[in-house]
Amino acid sequence: SSNQMWGGRFAAGPDAIMEAINASIGYDQRMAAQDIAGSRAHAAMLAKAGIITDKDAEAIREGLLTVLSEIENGNFNFSAALEDIHMNVEARLKEIIGEPAGRLHTGRSRNDQVATDFKLWVRDQMDAAIAGIEALMKALLSQAEAGAEWVMPGFTHLQTAQPVTWGHHMMAYVEMLARDRSRFMDARKRMNESPLGAAALAGTSFPIDREMTADALGFDRPAANSLDAVSDRDFALEFLSASTICAVHLSRLSEELVIWSSAQFRFVTLSDRFSTGSSIMPQKKNPDAAELIRAKIGRIFGANTALTIVMKGLPLAYSKDMQEDKEQTFDAADNLMLALAAMEGMVKDMSANTESLEAAAGSGFSTATDLADWLVRALNMPFRDAHHVTGTLVAMAESRGCDLPDLTLEDMQSVHEHITEDVFGVLGVHNSVASRTSYGGTAPSQVRAQVARWKDL
Ligand code: ARG
Repeated sequence: SSNQMWGGRFAAGPDAIMEAINASIGYDQRMAAQDIAGSRAHAAMLAKAGIITDKDAEAIREGLLTVLSEIENGNFNFSAALEDIHMNVEARLKEIIGEPAGRLHTGRSRNDQVATDFKLWVRDQMDAAIAGIEALMKALLSQAEAGAEWVMPGFTHLQTAQPVTWGHHMMAYVEMLARDRSRFMDARKRMNESPLGAAALAGTSFPIDREMTADALGFDRPAANSLDAVSDRDFALEFLSASTICAVHLSRLSEELVIWSSAQFRFVTLSDRFSTGSSIMPQKKNPDAAELIRAKIGRIFGANTALTIVMKGLPLAYSKDMQEDKEQTFDAADNLMLALAAMEGMVKDMSANTESLEAAAGSGFSTATDLADWLVRALNMPFRDAHHVTGTLVAMAESRGCDLPDLTLEDMQSVHEHITEDVFGVLGVHNSVASRTSYGGTAPSQVRAQVARWKDL
């Protein structure tokens, strides 16, 4: 049998393979609530504009609510023959209310309909991402507040660089996440224009009120150009690229947690709730959540790449290629939210092993820069010379298998005669971090100021 939506033009129905490649109902049923909200707004507007009767609009409204509850209660029969969520909803509406259902699509096309539904869906995900990021920021802020004074090694090249504070390290991620959040907020503002009423591509000859439907759906205004409105998927691309960058940050933190929780580092203990064991090695406690979050970037960036490539080269206006926008975006959104929630749980639950952190902070000649800075300050040495003297002292300590504070004053003076006892005051890790009071630095006082700045997020 031919299609009930366009059967007039068609003598035969689609091949089974055509139906399989064409149907999106398997995934776009996730936009049912958005589709029904869009249709309700459209129907109410059609009545207000005198395009359909109030009586028909009321029947449509009631019928759509019935369809929605059927879907929500899981007793809706989705049909692949009806392709997508739009036609499934409309066909069911027709079964329930009869003739008025056929008036709903006046002055509208599936092209503006799908753009509207998808935008509403993505807009919710922007909000969910913002909320998930904020929850994680809070977990990191508590860690930072608790550990504003705990010293740990700071690395460059994953080699000991200078001591930093635990709180400082946590706050670095708060800054990254704050930028992630602002990317979602910014994209949300830009995307919040309604495609509804753009119709197929050219607008409509019916006296529709696009302001009214835009307003009803929480959009700031109608999209200004009907060709653009049905062709635009920038909002999904922005969501995916903001998600990609956020996932990069989550992946970097995950990598650190994997390293830090190893027996060789012992910087943190992850909770049992976010770890798994081994079926053969009884001692194992694996940081699986961190590893999986580290991997999520793969599919999120994959979705970003896939949709970017789908969109490139498409002529205006709608092409069916654009149906491929949804699965990727759904998958990326699901996995971003999951990764944010898992990271929040892990960060909340993890405990820093302050003794291991402190011991590690002092190893690897981590205060060599403090020694060089002391030579500059106390002896008025040019920094380059101080660097050289300190390097010689590091080499001496290394050859003796000890750390810088273990050298004697005589050892020091054999390299530079004017070094005094005072130098030992700067070789401790606590002095080192406390001295780094420049704005944004690692000193506990600066970390507390950083935490205070994010108090209200
Ligand atoms: N299922 C389609 C999609 O997701 C809806 C729009 C169909 N429009 C059309 N002209 N065939 O893009």
